[in-house]
Amino acid sequence: MIKRQIAQSVYFVGGVDWNMRDFHGFCTPKGVTYNSYVIMDEKIAVIDGVKCTFADEQLEKISNIVEPEKIDYIIVNHVEPDHSGGLPVLARAAKNAVVVCTAQGKAEIIQYYGDQFNFKIVKAGDSIDLGKNKLHFLPLPMVHWPDSMVSFLEGADILFSNDAFGQHLCSSKLFDDENDLEEVLFEAEKYYANILMPLGKQVAGALVKVAQLPFTVKIVAPSHGIIWRSHIGAILAKYAEWSAGVTNERVVIVYETMWGSTEQLARALMDGVISENVKVNYYRLNTSDRTEIVRDILTAKGIMIGSSTMHNGVLPNVGTLLYHLKGLRPVGKIATVFGTHGWAGGAVKEIEKMLAETGIEVKHSISAKWSPSDADLQQAFDLGAEFARSIKSTSK
Ligand code: FEO
Repeated sequence: MIKRQIAQSVYFVGGVDWNMRDFHGFCTPKGVTYNSYVIMDEKIAVIDGVKCTFADEQLEKISNIVEPEKIDYIIVNHVEPDHSGGLPVLARAAKNAVVVCTAQGKAEIIQYYGDQFNFKIVKAGDSIDLGKNKLHFLPLPMVHWPDSMVSFLEGADILFSNDAFGQHLCSSKLFDDENDLEEVLFEAEKYYANILMPLGKQVAGALVKVAQLPFTVKIVAPSHGIIWRSHIGAILAKYAEWSAGVTNERVVIVYETMWGSTEQLARALMDGVISENVKVNYYRLNTSDRTEIVRDILTAKGIMIGSSTMHNGVLPNVGTLLYHLKGLRPVGKIATVFGTHGWAGGAVKEIEKMLAETGIEVKHSISAKWSPSDADLQQAFDLGAEFARSIKSTSK
């Protein structure tokens, strides 16, 4: 087994789930990693954990570097089971280790795994001397759970950022400058959109706190995906934009159609938007990945959502998307709603209602009966063009 060093005395001992394709509804075509690190100093610390199915793999990697009984600290930056599932196995082997976490983290660990660990509770400003290096702790509640914190290793200048700045991406190379930067940023954006979008305020606050740390961060080591060392400025700038809700002149058109009528409206709306030279992302739901759609929505100023009417409401996959969006609470967007129906409507009203609950302003709605007439299609084209002009006048 190879040892994977990321800095002097710091090793990668995480799990790499190359075949993971669904992370609680997040489509992960490039797999998922559960990053964990061991710091070899006078005192030995393990940072972050792995999903339970990778507990043995983590232990094997650690044992390749140090006997687990010699571990002094297990730092649990975040208790979500993708990072703590292996904790009972690790703690059993590292029988002299103290589990270091926030007070909220301790409560969650006991709820999940029972009261079987020795704890050391840390708060903002606390630190642990490891010898040559010192670990500092900074709780960041709700980035991503109430227990969340980040740890900074003074000496090696590594910020262990847990979920923040992560991506669902497996690679045989650990660092940003060893991978395709565009791909890493693309996956980081997808991760932010699908996991952190509703927590923009907390993320913005966390960025300020991290910037105020009296240290220079040379490496950002998240708990998922690639480690940042050459493009830290790029990912910080992206997080600043995403958490501030910065949008661009773009419209995401997403719909489902029963017999092609709603699709005709979608195409006419798209032509109208394009006629104003505004970029479009166009998705029919039954052939598209919701995780990708949400990534596109994160920075788009406009959304157009359409559905045929079924049972006086929307088609099921439109309902799933709307429900997901309601939880993600995207900010700073405007919408157009469209749909078709036979004898009784319902889809358009349902989408309007769900978007209102999501906090998205509906600028226009258009509805056609059975199959859109030429007049309906002309109206859709005109609405698309009008919507695009609104986008151009309000994008920031
Ligand atoms: Fe990667 Fe919030 O867990």
